[in-house]
Amino acid sequence: HTIRLKDYLPPAWLVETVHLDVSLHPSETRVRAKLAFKPNPESASAPLVLDGDGLSLMSLKLDGAPLPAANFVASPNQLTIPQPPNGPFTLEIETLVDPSANTQLSGLYRSSDTYCTQCEAEGFRRITYFPDRPDVMAVYTTRIEADRQEAPVLLANGNLVDSGALDNGRHYAVWHDPHPKPSYLFAMVGGDLACVEDSFRTMSGRDVTLRIYVEHGKQDRCAYAMDSLKRSMRWDEEAFGREYDLDIFMIVAVSDFNMGAMENKGLNVFNDKYVLASAETATDADFAHIEAVIAHEYFHNWTGNRITCRDWFQLCLKEGLTVFRDHEFSSDMRSRPVKRISDVRNLRAAQFIEDSGPLAHPVRPEAYKEINNFYTTTIYEKGAEVVRMVHTLLGPEKFRAGMDLYFQRHDGEAATVEQFIQCFADVTGRDIAQFMLWYSQAGTPRVTVSTHHDAAAGTYALSLKQAVPPTPNQPTKSPMVIPLVTGLIGPDGRDLPLVLADGGVVRRGVLVLHEAEWTFTFTGITERPVLSINRGFSAPIELVTDLSNDDLAFLAAHDSDPFNRWQALQTISMRLLIENVASIRAGKAPRSDDKLMVALAALLENPALEPAFVALALVPPGEGDIAREIGSDIDPDAIFQARTALRREIGTRLGAALSTLYERLTVPGGYTPDATSAGRRALRNVALDLMAAGGDASAITWAARQYDAADNMTDRMAALATLALHGGPEGERALADFYSRFEGDALVIDKWFSLQATIPQADTLDKVRALTKHAAFSFGNPNRVRALIGAFAMSNVTQFNRADGAGYDFLAETLLALDPKNPQVAARMATAFRTWRTLEEGRRGKAEAALKRIKEGGELSRDLADIVERALAPV
Ligand code: ARG
Ligand code: ZN
Repeated sequence: HTIRLKDYLPPAWLVETVHLDVSLHPSETRVRAKLAFKPNPESASAPLVLDGDGLSLMSLKLDGAPLPAANFVASPNQLTIPQPPNGPFTLEIETLVDPSANTQLSGLYRSSDTYCTQCEAEGFRRITYFPDRPDVMAVYTTRIEADRQEAPVLLANGNLVDSGALDNGRHYAVWHDPHPKPSYLFAMVGGDLACVEDSFRTMSGRDVTLRIYVEHGKQDRCAYAMDSLKRSMRWDEEAFGREYDLDIFMIVAVSDFNMGAMENKGLNVFNDKYVLASAETATDADFAHIEAVIAHEYFHNWTGNRITCRDWFQLCLKEGLTVFRDHEFSSDMRSRPVKRISDVRNLRAAQFIEDSGPLAHPVRPEAYKEINNFYTTTIYEKGAEVVRMVHTLLGPEKFRAGMDLYFQRHDGEAATVEQFIQCFADVTGRDIAQFMLWYSQAGTPRVTVSTHHDAAAGTYALSLKQAVPPTPNQPTKSPMVIPLVTGLIGPDGRDLPLVLADGGVVRRGVLVLHEAEWTFTFTGITERPVLSINRGFSAPIELVTDLSNDDLAFLAAHDSDPFNRWQALQTISMRLLIENVASIRAGKAPRSDDKLMVALAALLENPALEPAFVALALVPPGEGDIAREIGSDIDPDAIFQARTALRREIGTRLGAALSTLYERLTVPGGYTPDATSAGRRALRNVALDLMAAGGDASAITWAARQYDAADNMTDRMAALATLALHGGPEGERALADFYSRFEGDALVIDKWFSLQATIPQADTLDKVRALTKHAAFSFGNPNRVRALIGAFAMSNVTQFNRADGAGYDFLAETLLALDPKNPQVAARMATAFRTWRTLEEGRRGKAEAALKRIKEGGELSRDLADIVERALAPV
């Protein structure tokens, strides 16, 4: 059934304290929960209704006395006391749970023999009956006992207050978390884990113990995560004035995890791929992800934990804001322009696609059936863009003032998006009503720009039109507030002063579009300037301009905004690619573009540019971006051919310059994961791959040499990818070598599965099918499933979308097999169907048939059923 935002009611009962007493056992873990309830003064008296999920109730006491069976109703999914006392009371609930049978990885489960929990969003109810909603905040004390051999390490939220030995080889630990929190932030861990320890002195001079727990033998792979944690703690003090608030901060890395990581108070639980790294096993991208995810989870301590969400409709309140914060952190740690370009690339490749299809939803949804399906790129990444627009509209000082007010006003509360945005309204005196449309209207606004220069009058008119496309349940839209950072660039490459003819002032270069159509007229513009608009991607929109390719080439060479330099080249390439897709479908040869080649060649010869920037600029728009731009009647093969032709052309035309770069850009000394060295490796490896794409046989020799000689995973993996794609038998040899070199290392073997799943060749599906039978493949490990099945369905555009529909059939079969085990992961992978309606007729019919087969495939989980139903819903 559907949960709606408009139906929100405050809880009838509040919980003041939770005392948990958990006796760990592989299949029969006993949970005793003592809950102190009090009526919520803000709501009418009501029965006590507690959430459960698959629970078995062993005993129940109210105020110390067993509750007669006639006075309550218990089912696996609910516990009701129709007539609870009038005032405060305690409830003692004993439940029995089986962690080993928990393959959903929600609640209490085991990952390689370690007991761990995942409670967001609704996992706590799989441990005990509880009002499992974020606006019920309580103080938790957790006692865990376990066999000392099996689980010498026992952890929970907060501070350790007691521990000791028990009979029969068992022992216990008691943890107390003084900060009231919602149940989704509860965590506990028990296992035989190694630990790396460090410490951090906060800005007020308190010493905090930092611990990272990992499997024995993995301690030497924690250094980068620990360093990232300390840098995150310092950054949050400096950038937001936020200090850590407990004596200890712990991270536990587990190998079976549905998502990236979880910000449980004082005890973050991580997918180990976002903790473990060494030069030999992790790529530069892995290091960057670790830094970002460690920061993200740490930042949640204030944006998520100290101030949490009133209900799950407000999920973006913590996620969008925390992603914005982690993006800012990475920008400060690395290159801001390079970070922005990669973030926008990801936004377009995932969020824009989601926003243009059947799974589109507002940043704050109004209804859901399964909340786990709303941990989406729209909530996270578009949510972060909305916060970034607040920052752009207000400027850094006012933004900080609004954040300070938010922390001061709502600390300890479960807040709403309105309350957050109201803080910025209060520090500026502005009205927020129109801005709130960013939270309520789904769909990517399209802004169309036309320009007119009147040399005689010295004016330049910039006419803007906005439209937001219809999305599910939202056929018509109102105009949004769109902040467009803009420059007018004179012939000498410098920005002209922006003087509005109507006397309006342009602050920090931000033009704000409020209307459906508006014209900004600038004066004092004697020579025709070139327009640079939506600099830094100041608004998450689709932009259509009347700039010529010559204007774009000028921007690529001269814009002071690096994002728009990159964007200009992407736009030129996109125009060419779209034209060539049409030609290929009409049986004609793709055209080449000399001006684009000249512009790209200029990049390679410009020593002032960061290598990481050049690397990004050399990569043409992705297959998904091209498809989105075309919009309908998509033929993925034609897109692939057009893109391959462009890569080949870059490889051959710029071959000499690329090989010079390849030889020049070696990174001296041993491997370090810093952004500068990573940028050199990135450009060198892009150069290698483009040379190979251009058919240069020596590139294969170089790649084979690089594969063998590499002292780090970035170079080894890049060489392997080039060989696997272009190297024929060399590729086979390297893949076999890679497997035997890293056989015991699950995170590296995931890369081996992914690479093979993403090769755009006709035999890939057969190979993927065969790999599901490989000894190292398991449906029980989400990382492995995503590495093989996820990579094939989400990243291998031509082979997933095979014209014969076999890719769809494979995914349908696989999802039906996975769903009973792990619905969350199955539902996530089903989103690979989100663009099915845009395909050409033949594929569209086959994708639809596969979706219907899933729908009728039996008793689906709520997670998978929800995605499939929304994907199939008529538009
Ligand atoms: N709050 C976590 C994060 O953003 C994500 C956990 C979501 N888990 C889930 N099963 N829906 O870091
Ligand atoms: Zn988060």
